[in-house]
Amino acid sequence: MMENHELVVLAKKAMEKSYAPYSKFKVGAALLGKDGIVYLGCNVENASFGATICAERTALTKAVSEGAREFEKIAIVASSGEYAAPCGICRQVLYEFMPDGEVILDSSEEGMKVMKLKDLLPMGFRGEDIK
Ligand code: THU
Repeated sequence: MMENHELVVLAKKAMEKSYAPYSKFKVGAALLGKDGIVYLGCNVENASFGATICAERTALTKAVSEGAREFEKIAIVASSGEYAAPCGICRQVLYEFMPDGEVILDSSEEGMKVMKLKDLLPMGFRGEDIK
């Protein structure tokens, strides 16, 4: 059983690997699979800014490429120490694999905040909507 605060600690560890020379905004994510495995990710920036990959998608893509398909929750932290809610693209990408999942945010001043991905992405689009 992985506690939310443990997942936040792992997201902070993942943030140490962030490659963010342009924004200097480091982000770390720790994604818990239903298999009990935790997949870590950080943001990976690029001189061509649009090619940047967010921490959440790094973690998810690593996990899916290792064979994982279902996830329980993801913890996200940023170097600002403030809550860093996932961007719109990451919400959609996470929704594909954890529509009932939880998003754990952390602020150094205000502590943890747990949200349902469904509340962050109302009426999210899924494969079953393709008819
Ligand atoms: N970033 C993330 O890693 N996750 C988010 O959900 C928001 C933004 C990164 C991308 C870029 O490297 C930096 O934060 C500034 O946008």
